[in-house]
Amino acid sequence: MTTRILFVCLGNICRSPAAEAIVRARSDGMALALDSAGTGDWHVGQPPYAPMQEAAAARGYDLGDLRARTLTPEDFDRFDLIIAMDRENLRDIERLRHGATTPVKLFTDYTKGPETAVPDPYFTRDFEAALDLIESCAEGLLASLRRAD
Ligand code: 4NP
Repeated sequence: MTTRILFVCLGNICRSPAAEAIVRARSDGMALALDSAGTGDWHVGQPPYAPMQEAAAARGYDLGDLRARTLTPEDFDRFDLIIAMDRENLRDIERLRHGATTPVKLFTDYTKGPETAVPDPYFTRDFEAALDLIESCAEGLLASLRRAD
């Protein structure tokens, strides 16, 4: 059965589209349906932020076809798992829950490191650090999904 996973950040132009593309690129053969969304609506319809696209492309990930959208309450019904990039995202996601039992997790729950958030590179300007951590979380998530199979 296909596992449907939604990655969520604030703007949906840096962290969550990168997470979506990186998990997709590394999920070889797994039955996953992946998407991303933002809790904010500033960038709806826009492709990922150019500096993030460039940093991701240098690692072999193509973010070019992705477009930003906002998280909706219906996403709780459309996905099996929702993954937040930081605690603020987690709070904003939980505000839209309407009795749904869909689990919402922090992406950093899947890395062995001490991090409790993927720092927002739109503000830190450190796209490499964000991608390093997203790759590590992606591997941990994929390992947990393979174990659950
Ligand atoms: P993201 O980064 O949440 O990783 O997509 C952001 C990008 C833009 C804004 C906030 C966060 N913004 O406020 O425009």
